Amino acid sequence: MTLMQNYAQYDITFARGKGSYLYDETETAYLDCACGISVTNLGHIHPYITGKFMEQAEKLWHTSNLFPNKLPEKLAKRLSEAAFGGQMFFCNSGAEANEGAIKLAIKYNNNVYNGKKPRIITMVNGFHGRTYAAMSATAQEKIRKGFEPAASFFSYIPYNDTAAAEAELAKGDVCAVMLELYQGEAGVLPADPVFVKNLRELTHKYGALMIIDEIQTGYGRTGKLFAYSHFGIVPDIITMAKAMANGIPMGGIMAKPEIAALFTHGTHGSTFGANLLACAAADAVLDILLAEGFLDEVAVKGEKTQTMLKETLLQYGISVRGRGMLIGVELPSDNKTFIKNAMKEKILVIGGGTKSVRFYPPLNASMAELEEGVGKMAKAALATQHESGFFK
Ligand SMILES: Cc1ncc(COP(=O)(O)O)c(C=O)c1O
Repeated sequence: MTLMQNYAQYDITFARGKGSYLYDETETAYLDCACGISVTNLGHIHPYITGKFMEQAEKLWHTSNLFPNKLPEKLAKRLSEAAFGGQMFFCNSGAEANEGAIKLAIKYNNNVYNGKKPRIITMVNGFHGRTYAAMSATAQEKIRKGFEPAASFFSYIPYNDTAAAEAELAKGDVCAVMLELYQGEAGVLPADPVFVKNLRELTHKYGALMIIDEIQTGYGRTGKLFAYSHFGIVPDIITMAKAMANGIPMGGIMAKPEIAALFTHGTHGSTFGANLLACAAADAVLDILLAEGFLDEVAVKGEKTQTMLKETLLQYGISVRGRGMLIGVELPSDNKTFIKNAMKEKILVIGGGTKSVRFYPPLNASMAELEEGVGKMAKAALATQHESGFFK
């Protein structure tokens, strides 16, 4: 046992993947409604993405950010045009993207407010990653336990509580507010659109940045490239990662140009950021996501799937929430038994909070595969009911 034991792992090893399925070492197929925690959002070994990746693999892998390259430039331009016209910084993971966004907020405080607004507000039950500042930004006791003291400049407020947000912002020492629009790790808990609008107005009023963590909600999972588009607001900064390169590690920060300008030469960096293999895969991912009608179809398939799940699972006391293919399934009991029973039915889902599971199918799954997924979820619910007697 030479791997650190920080992950509680399941007892299945996958040998290969194709499309919406993973295959274990005995060639048993599992319908993958976990997507590696919303990473392989276009399915496994997608032929187009693999082709573009292999093409780049035979040309050039890495030169470092000491030398410019057309690939990251092109990718940044495409993302900027598809979102709010910001500038991009590329890195390798979600936590690293959030660290960078937090550093931008700190620099904003130092440059614009002479250090007088050092605090950053985040939301209870949010999740922003495991590195030090991202962990400190995460308002969940269990994530920070044993790693105290967390960075002291974060303050946590209840999600969807406008009065609490105003009370903190009115103190005049807040440089940024950071939040997810659906709290993924907590089980796909939605932000109230009225709260999000209020927060945008309050951050303008009190001169604070609005940072949206799109690491789980972004890249088409909700039926839009980024979830903020559903809420009628424009953030100052968004962070992204997970599905950017469909399984090749990649993260990114997009900031409005005047904020991005705070990262002057030598102030921030990442050796592997904008790695050419990751950029090639990410460019191919955007070819698919931004193709005419693709995201609209995700939205339609997602709503149909949610309806099917609701109708099928209601009898077990299970409710369903989310947007597009970002689907949270709330159980009346602990999620561990359900997830194991789902695996017995050969479907993979992910826990969220203690009583939810996240149902994250590939965005390009067929309706037949989604129906198969709903059927397997119903069987897992029935087995859990029999086994635990928890439901009803
Ligand atoms: C909303 C959110 N932010 C940040 C992270 C951290 O990303 P990573 O694990 O790539 O560091 C995650 C990961 O699950 C996430 O869901």
